[in-house]
Amino acid sequence: MRPRVDTARRPALPPGAILPRRRETMNYRHAFHAGNVGDVLKHAVLSLILTHLMAKPKPVLVLDTHAGAGAYDLDGGAAARTGEWRGGIGRLRGAGAAVPAALRGYLTAVADIAAAHGPTIYPGSPLLAAARLRPGDRLVAVERHPETHAALAALLGRRPGVTVRDGDGYAALAALLPPPERRGLVLMDPPFEDRGEYAALAAALGRAHRRFATGVYMLWYPVKDPGAVEAFRQQIADSGVRRVLAAELTVRPTTTIRGLAGSGLILVNPPYRLDETLRALLPWLADTLAETPGVGGWRLDWLRGEA
Ligand SMILES: C[S@@+](CC[C@H](N)C(=O)[O-])C[C@H]1O[C@@H](n2cnc3c(N)ncnc32)[C@H](O)[C@@H]1O
Repeated sequence: MRPRVDTARRPALPPGAILPRRRETMNYRHAFHAGNVGDVLKHAVLSLILTHLMAKPKPVLVLDTHAGAGAYDLDGGAAARTGEWRGGIGRLRGAGAAVPAALRGYLTAVADIAAAHGPTIYPGSPLLAAARLRPGDRLVAVERHPETHAALAALLGRRPGVTVRDGDGYAALAALLPPPERRGLVLMDPPFEDRGEYAALAAALGRAHRRFATGVYMLWYPVKDPGAVEAFRQQIADSGVRRVLAAELTVRPTTTIRGLAGSGLILVNPPYRLDETLRALLPWLADTLAETPGVGGWRLDWLRGEA
């Protein structure tokens, strides 16, 4: 009988063999982190951007370069093992009527998806985007991990307007940009399993922006090592890309050994007044999601303006 191949494991290599860099990042499973504080920030802002883009009656492309599986069961397997979601979407659900208006679209989308797919299901970014597509809009979701890609294809592959691709999300940027719609959002959310990911992400933004300068871009990054974060922000500020807003949310001090302090988003060409919305929202999220009272933090600044 042929052995079952576990694609998450690396094959045995001959001595001295060199593994291509991107192949080394295939152990990541977003299921362990689904619904956590990083997902809340990313998916709440994704929802706000989609609302803005869909407000005009013109077709939109959403390109999700690192899409994940699309849906996660918070009550089973990986998500239940870490319980990270309890500090994210779990806390927001517990906040009840105190939730700011800016979060209501996101929370409604999460609730609608749970009603359709199961009460313990939390959506990933491609499912949130797919749920918002209008006739004529397109979602292209790229996922490199074979099993994760298969799960995503089973979930969304037959939906009108949705294309699920396997392969490298960074390479898809060159293939798909600029889009014929000339309007769109590019979400880049790599797994950050390797130290070079910050630089790779910033470089990919620069290349994509040269092809499609009017697009909206949203990049997610972890806040763990302050030096790496500052170098990343500087690389983006120096890249020639304009209208770059950076939003960060931390729920524990960066000096903590345990887990991430929080995460950030790089937003290029953000919708009109999104900065004001985030300036009101981030302090509330920092207070509400702080691991212990008073340790939450946030910052919001323009890395580059119009000039
Ligand atoms: C952070 S998760 C994505 C989560 C998703 N965007 C969401 O918010 O629900 C990153 C995903 O990228 C996949 N991945 C890793 N390297 C990739 C690459 N070069 N191209 C496309 N996908 C990749 C991983 O398998 C993982 O599923």
